[in-house]
Amino acid sequence: MIHVLFVCLGNICRSPTAEGVFRHKVERAGLSEVIAVDSAGTAAWHIGKAPDSRTCAAARQRGYDLSALRARQAVADDFLRFDWVLAMDASNLAHLQALRPAEARVVPQLFLPLADELTLSEVPDPYYGGAQGFEQVLDVIEIASDALLQRIQSSLR
Ligand code: 4NP
Repeated sequence: MIHVLFVCLGNICRSPTAEGVFRHKVERAGLSEVIAVDSAGTAAWHIGKAPDSRTCAAARQRGYDLSALRARQAVADDFLRFDWVLAMDASNLAHLQALRPAEARVVPQLFLPLADELTLSEVPDPYYGGAQGFEQVLDVIEIASDALLQRIQSSLR
């Protein structure tokens, strides 16, 4: 089993979107028994909460159901359980690098650079902005999720 963890700040907007979108693509590829998906936040503010209502609404419009997801905080042990630890922005990445135990094999990295066709390297935080921000989050996450799935599929061959 390959374990993938998406990480943002609050675990209520960007990383739950990535979890839902990537899980949907994994299911469509028939790989649910091979790839496990989770998400977490670097901050503790929203632990136990469902994703932001704007995040859920935008995702639902594109066929992704995020309603069952609940926020949790990233912990050092995640680095011993996950094969991919993917940060939404550089600040998330810096927090993860500080949290990573010395014995961990996995190295956290930014999610978007997996997709060559994306010019953005960070998923912009939509929390304090308008509806268009949530669409942009979905746009870039859909593209990067395709790239991640291709990377994992070629590693399985
Ligand atoms: P996320 O967005 O990191 O994509 O979940 C945010 C959620 C909450 C806050 C900031 C960003 N906040 O300040 O509470």
